[in-house]
Amino acid sequence: MKKLVTALVTAVERFRIWLLAQPWFTSVLLPALPRRLRWALRRVYLAPVDLADRWLGRREESLPPKASTFTGAVSDFAATGGLLLEALRETAGLTPSSQLLDVGCGLGRLAIPVAGFLDPEGGYEGIDIVPDGIAWCRANVSGPYGNVHFTLADVHNKEYHPKGRMKASEYTFPFADDSFDVAVLISVFTHMLPAEVNRYLSELARVLKPGGRAFISYFLLSPETEALMATSSVQRRFRHRIGEAYVASVKVPELSVGYRESYIRELCAAHGFAADPVVLYGAWSGRRGHWPADSGLGDQDTVIATVR
Ligand SMILES: C[S@@+](CC[C@H](N)C(=O)[O-])C[C@H]1O[C@@H](n2cnc3c(N)ncnc32)[C@H](O)[C@@H]1O
Repeated sequence: MKKLVTALVTAVERFRIWLLAQPWFTSVLLPALPRRLRWALRRVYLAPVDLADRWLGRREESLPPKASTFTGAVSDFAATGGLLLEALRETAGLTPSSQLLDVGCGLGRLAIPVAGFLDPEGGYEGIDIVPDGIAWCRANVSGPYGNVHFTLADVHNKEYHPKGRMKASEYTFPFADDSFDVAVLISVFTHMLPAEVNRYLSELARVLKPGGRAFISYFLLSPETEALMATSSVQRRFRHRIGEAYVASVKVPELSVGYRESYIRELCAAHGFAADPVVLYGAWSGRRGHWPADSGLGDQDTVIATVR
């Protein structure tokens, strides 16, 4: 019986991950559904998986329930968090005594492994706009040294926090200038519009120390990805343009947003980042991605930019 339930639950989870990788689902069907219904369907679909995990004795109390995980189709929350941490150590120079800012920290996927990685000199600050996510992190994620903190930003995003009172394009990060060695945004600018990305890049340049690094994931568009999008079966098509943003759905642009690589390079330089960021491409457009498929960086492109 347990074998059967395990097989069923695995199939249910895999089917969701497969669905979220289908262009007709993410670009056509999902945007057609009202947001409330989308979020309710996720809960209803995954609640039996949580129940089964509990019954099978494999529910990990240190991780958020799957039904409340609003942060995307992640195949293995714990393992991918650890891989994200490794990626930051390797490419952004994160050390146990670094000060790390995680904007759009979600349900603490990165915070959980970072809490055990930092030494007493280090520090972690997570910001997010979803009240339930920050509440879960505050209740469940802490390090041994009291240096892991979470901030709720009451910022509007049509998909993640439609009732938010502040505009992301006017939001000031609640930190002093030159506070952080590394800042990370995983799959956050892929849900934000141009004026908002512009503001956040300016804030990142302000709160990072000179020489500090921003590790940010994007969908970067270029002649190469456009050619691939036209021919291969890519997950996202970005058929519509809103100013500098390329979106899959005009109705809910925040579901998936891409930017021209040249535009992001210009924006980074304008805000005080060095002109030669490291760019590691993901597999979303059909090219061979830098990160392994199960790395937790999704299949997005990563730009690692250093403050001048
Ligand atoms: C796809 S999830 C990724 C979460 C997390 N970075 C991870 O990789 O597990 C996108 C996250 O960005 C957050 N977000 C969206 N707009 C934001 C904004 N303007 N400021 C901060 N966070 C934002 C959402 O609430 C959500 O938690």
